[in-house]
Amino acid sequence: MTAYDDIAAILRNDEDFSARDHKPRPLKDLPPDVREILSTWSGESASLGEMDPPEHTRVRSVINAGFTPRALQAAETGIRAAAADLLRPLAAASEFDLITEFALPYALTVILRFLGIPDEHHEACLRWSDHKVQLMVGRDHTPERLREYATGLRAFGGFARELTRQRLSAPRDDLISTMLHESPHGHRLSPDEVASLIPTLIITGHTTLAQALSIIVRTQLRSPGGWAALVDGTVPIADLVEEGLRLDCPVVGMYRTAVREVTVAGRALPAGSRVLLLYGAGNHDPGRYPDPDRCLPARWPAAPHLAFGRGTHYCVGAALARAELRIALEEMATRFPKLSAAPETTPVYRPTFPLRALTALRVRP
Ligand code: HEM
Repeated sequence: MTAYDDIAAILRNDEDFSARDHKPRPLKDLPPDVREILSTWSGESASLGEMDPPEHTRVRSVINAGFTPRALQAAETGIRAAAADLLRPLAAASEFDLITEFALPYALTVILRFLGIPDEHHEACLRWSDHKVQLMVGRDHTPERLREYATGLRAFGGFARELTRQRLSAPRDDLISTMLHESPHGHRLSPDEVASLIPTLIITGHTTLAQALSIIVRTQLRSPGGWAALVDGTVPIADLVEEGLRLDCPVVGMYRTAVREVTVAGRALPAGSRVLLLYGAGNHDPGRYPDPDRCLPARWPAAPHLAFGRGTHYCVGAALARAELRIALEEMATRFPKLSAAPETTPVYRPTFPLRALTALRVRP
């Protein structure tokens, strides 16, 4: 599906569509022992993204308790400090890679601190997240390399279970403790469920964010006067964030499966049909966004874009992500008012579907 209205209609329709099989299917050529690790590394619980109501409602209501406006407000000072600490040393460089030297470590630091994971685990979490991405790419790796990645994932699962045990007995003011100890509307999560959510939140919480930030900066640097307009406030950062997410969204799309025969856009879909909802295409639907391929921050407010999905599975981290993008851009504008793009070779994206991931963006402060 590529039309905005069709995608939005399916995402709102939990009666006829299930999220059970929402991700691209695992690659068939993984060795059996690697496949075994992949199906067990994060525990027995289903992943949040593949749950349907009422199971999803129970789990999601507990996670939502950790993303209240109060929790986000409390995190804001720490988020700004994370941005400032990473940007400060880069001012002395003649050129740096925005993705590896700022966007990725920034996004990872923020989600780890939000979860309550000490900074000392940053390197390991980055490595394990990369292992997960490499296993998604899969095809060109030797069996030995695949095993190394899978072993890394098993360590990630063990790490999450150990953290869960610690917060169960000694809660702190962090998201892991909230997920273990809150019970909104009487809903509770088991320690195993919390442990399986930790890697999900770490991986989805930083890869998408780094991509969004990189794309917004790249778009502004490539448009004449674009960075200056951000710095002097001619372009409001909030509008730029929405337009950047619409223009090149980090999660290109997701699948849903029809649980019964259903008609969408005048076409009958038999029960069991698996439909790919291309959020990126919906965000370029000219019926919703005139001149869709141009970056036009002035178009906002417009129809809410689909970069965070819609309906039941709407991104749990959307408000946090918006705050992180705004704060990073504010800090960059203040510190690097003359930021420019280094001469660019063809941009290289990791071959990962549905996550878009630009691999490098060299800039001059
Ligand atoms: C710019 C950054 C981000 C983008 C573009 C993004 C995009 C998305 C999208 C499109 C979905 C819906 C998937 C579907 O329809 O099946 C989603 C769900 C989700 N996102 Fe994000 N996300 C971002 C940041 C974050 C952050 C910072 C976190 C963690 C704090 C996060 C955690 C999640 C989780 C756990 C889900 C599953 C929600 C559910 O199934 O109920 N995301 N995200």
